[in-house]
Parts: sequence; structure tokens; C-alpha cells
Amino acid sequence: MKRMIALVVALLAFIGIAYAVTSHNDAKPAAKKAAVPTVGILQMMSHPALDQIHKGILQGLKDEGYTVGKDVKIDFQNAENDQSNMKTMSERFINEKANVVVGIATPAAQALANATKKTPIILGAITDPKGAKLVKSNTKPGGNITGVSDQAPIDAQLKLIRQLMPKAKVLGVIATSSDDSAQTQAKMVDEKAAKYGFTVKDFGISSTNDLNQVAGEMASQVDAVFVPTDNTIASAMQTLVAATNAKKIPVFPTVDTMVKDGGLATIGLNQFHLGVSTGKMVAAALKGKKPATTPIHFETTGDLVVNLKVAKKLGITIPDSVVTKAEKNGEVIK
Ligand code: TRP
Repeated sequence: MKRMIALVVALLAFIGIAYAVTSHNDAKPAAKKAAVPTVGILQMMSHPALDQIHKGILQGLKDEGYTVGKDVKIDFQNAENDQSNMKTMSERFINEKANVVVGIATPAAQALANATKKTPIILGAITDPKGAKLVKSNTKPGGNITGVSDQAPIDAQLKLIRQLMPKAKVLGVIATSSDDSAQTQAKMVDEKAAKYGFTVKDFGISSTNDLNQVAGEMASQVDAVFVPTDNTIASAMQTLVAATNAKKIPVFPTVDTMVKDGGLATIGLNQFHLGVSTGKMVAAALKGKKPATTPIHFETTGDLVVNLKVAKKLGITIPDSVVTKAEKNGEVIK
């Protein structure tokens, strides 16, 4: 009997030790995992500008010492331009306790804002954070949201159009009716164009389905076209320029990526760089910096980007001084 008790005691002790050892082993990696913060990135849809911003965010995090997979976990979601995707993805980030979330493009940021009033939200290139009701003020956001605005240097852009098209009178502005970002900029152009000697004609589309038709009509009524940061058009630049090139009308976009996709020229914000700035603000939020008191970051100086391939196709001469300047400080597409 004594022997039996000794055996049971020994057995229990063994089980106890085994349990302690295994649970100890289990606990270790779990604790380590919890220390790596998660950043949820929600991108509205794919187009070259937003893809560059996404890339830039990862670079910005790296610049601040957060290597993906080691110091930070990234949960990246692309909503493919679907509102219900944006809602469920935002809610999942919050349920899964992401430490910081990022919205690329206005609808994505708005979906995140609807999902949480607590988790810090960093805006990835949102044109008008206040107008989109994401912050109370650009200098003192007040809530859980701050980030980067991509409000374009519209005056510099109109000045460039005037310089390259000295005889142009009518400027067509084309934008998607439901795109807040594009509408904000289209309105700014409407207000400023007269100062540069242009009369504006506005054209609206509701989706890529009517882009070809509206762009064709526009091309026969205007001397040049301005396109704001319009998510729908940015995803279908080929359709727009096919219609305008056919009538030899140049397109002036607001950003570098859209010049690469067939626009003639811009003084535009570098999209990758906007992403880098966003990534740095994400890093600051991970370190505990409060969005409420962190002002919105505005990127003010654009790069001169000219597309000589397009100029040739349209029979437009870009002055040497402009090309030299673009070569030095911006980009020339040949
Ligand atoms: N500013 C846009 C928004 O708030 C997003 C955006 C950033 C964008 N860069 C762009 C759209 C370039 C079109 C082209 O929704």
C-alpha cells in the first residue's frame, strides 16, 4: 500500500512537472506574440496611386524602426471599391484589437471611423479630413483620428496648364459625383480657374461605365482637361485618355501616377512619399502619440512631372525649360 501511495505521489509529481514545463513553453511564445503590435490597413480599392501609398506606408514604418513581421504585424485589406467590404473589414480590425488602423482613401477612412471611436486611425492621403467629417479641425483633430492630407497644389497646377497651353480657353473638369475627394478639388478649380484665364466646364460620371461616353463629349467642348484625385478615374485612366487623345485634347491630372498613366503633366504630390509620411504617423501612434492633439500633415510641394510620350502623340511642345526643371526636381516620362 505504501509503495502504491509513493507511486501515485511520484506520478502526480511527474504530471505536475510535465504540465509546468509544457505550459511554460506555451506561455513564452504567446507572450512574445502579444508584444508585436498589429496595424490594420484598409485600402478602398486598387489603382496605381493608392498602391503607391500602401507601399510608402510600409517604408515609413521601416524608416521609424518597425520592420514588418518582426516589430509590427500588418493586416492589409483591399475593399475592391465595395462599401459593405469596407464595413466588415473595419469591424473585424476592431474586434481583433488592432493597435492602430489606417484608411487609404476617404471611403475607407470613413468606414473605420464608423467602427471605432477609440482605436487610433491614421488617414492615408485623405483630401479633406474636415469636410469628410473625420476630424473637428485640421490643427486639433480632437478625437481618435489624424493623418496625412493629399490636398493638391491647385494654383501651381493651373499655372502649369496656362504655361503649356497659352491659347486654351475652356478647361474641362471631370469627376465622379460620389467621390468627395474629387468633388472638393473640382470645386477649388471652379473657383480659381478664372484667375488663370480659363472658363470651366464641369463633367460628372457615376462610374467607369459612363467614362468613355462623357470623356468623348467633353473632348469636343474643351481645350484641355483637369482631373482631380478621383479614385474611379485613377483606376481607368486608359479609358479617359483614349477618348481625349482621339480629339488631341491633353489631360492634366493632379498626381504623378496619373501622368504616368497617360496624363500630359502636373505639379503633383508624389504618392509614394505621401505613404511614407503616413507610415511615420502610424509609428508615432504605435508609440502612444495621441491623434486628438496631432495636427493633420499637409504635403504642400508637388513635383513637376511631364510625359513626353503623350506630348508627342498630341503634337504639343513642352518648353525645354520645363523639361529641364522636371529632370532636376521631378520626373520626365520618355
Ligand atoms: N485623396 C483620395 C481620397 O481621399 C485618395 C487618393 C490619394 C487618390 N491619392 C490619389 C485618388 C490619387 C485618386 C488619385 O479619397
